[in-house]
Amino acid sequence: MPNAGSTGDLAPEAEPVEASLGAISLRRFDLTDLPWVLEIEGRSFGAPWSAASFTIETSRPSSVSLVGELDGRPVGYAIFTRYADSWHLMTVAVDPRARRRGVARTLIDAGLEAIGPGPVTLEVRPSNSAAITLYEKLGFVQWGMRPGYYPDDGEDALIMWRGDPSEAGVPGEALSKPPRPARQ
Ligand SMILES: CC(C)(COP(=O)(O)OP(=O)(O)OC[C@H]1O[C@@H](n2cnc3c(N)ncnc32)[C@H](O)[C@@H]1OP(=O)(O)O)[C@@H](O)C(=O)NCCC(=O)NCCS
Repeated sequence: MPNAGSTGDLAPEAEPVEASLGAISLRRFDLTDLPWVLEIEGRSFGAPWSAASFTIETSRPSSVSLVGELDGRPVGYAIFTRYADSWHLMTVAVDPRARRRGVARTLIDAGLEAIGPGPVTLEVRPSNSAAITLYEKLGFVQWGMRPGYYPDDGEDALIMWRGDPSEAGVPGEALSKPPRPARQ
């Protein structure tokens, strides 16, 4: 699998992306990022990952782990990992003070580019409309539910896929239609 285990040419030479409010740049996640990552994680999730979870996930050979900076300040992260036949977006979060500036979108776009073609999946709480809107904008479609997936409160997970899940041996039909291409 080309690019597996690294972000390739992505960081740290990535070109800054001009967003409406600030310049976004990307680099690879490093374990020295843990203190601020854990702070954002704690402010973003009811059941945050621990330092050990980040260490394990970002150390996997197939991990593509990115940090997003806004005007030079680290404000978000996204972690992709390959399991069996498909890539999984394991987590993404952005500092609440830096949201709606395109950081998550830039992180996920860059991760998708780094991992290359092939199906990508994720789980998201059906109540997380912000994340679902973001994922749908990036081409993910709603595929199914995993009942009682989240251990902290038993909420179901919505499964989303980008690309063709049958390539990963996943049967079934999408629950939602792929987004229409943006108008030129
Ligand atoms: C979901 C999250 C990662 C989005 O990060 P972000 O950097 O604010 O997202 P972006 O600015 O890249 O948003 C891109 C698009 O996603 C959609 N979106 C993002 N946040 C949204 C919100 N709160 N409400 C509605 N749509 C939203 C919009 O379409 C947005 O485009 P627009 O701003 O031009 O309208 C962020 O809200 C977050 O960290 N939430 C807590 C952690 C979390 O839920 N992670 C996902 C777990 S599955």
